[in-house]
Amino acid sequence: MEIVLCVGSSCHLKGSSAILNRINALITEYHLGGKIILSGSFCMDQCTKGNSGVCIKIDKQIFSVTAATIDDVFRREVVQKLSGEDSV
Ligand code: FES
Repeated sequence: MEIVLCVGSSCHLKGSSAILNRINALITEYHLGGKIILSGSFCMDQCTKGNSGVCIKIDKQIFSVTAATIDDVFRREVVQKLSGEDSV
C-alpha cells in the first residue's frame, strides 16, 4: 500500500512533519513496515480547495488529516484495508 504525504509549503504550515512522525509511529505500532511505501510529495493542488488539514494520499485517494484525525484515518484506510487483504 502506498501512502504519499504532502510536504508542500501550505501543508507544511499545517503540520505535515508532525503527521509524518505520527504515521511512522502508527506503522511501527501496527507492524506494517513491510507493507507500506511512504513517500513525500510537493503540493497536491488541494490547499486551494478549503482543506484545513494536511493532504495525504492513500492508495490514490486523497484525504485531509490533522493531528486529531490521522489515527482514525490510518486505522480505517490502512489497517482495516490491509487486514481485509490478508483474510482474502
Ligand atoms: S501544499 Fe499540500 S496540497 Fe498544497
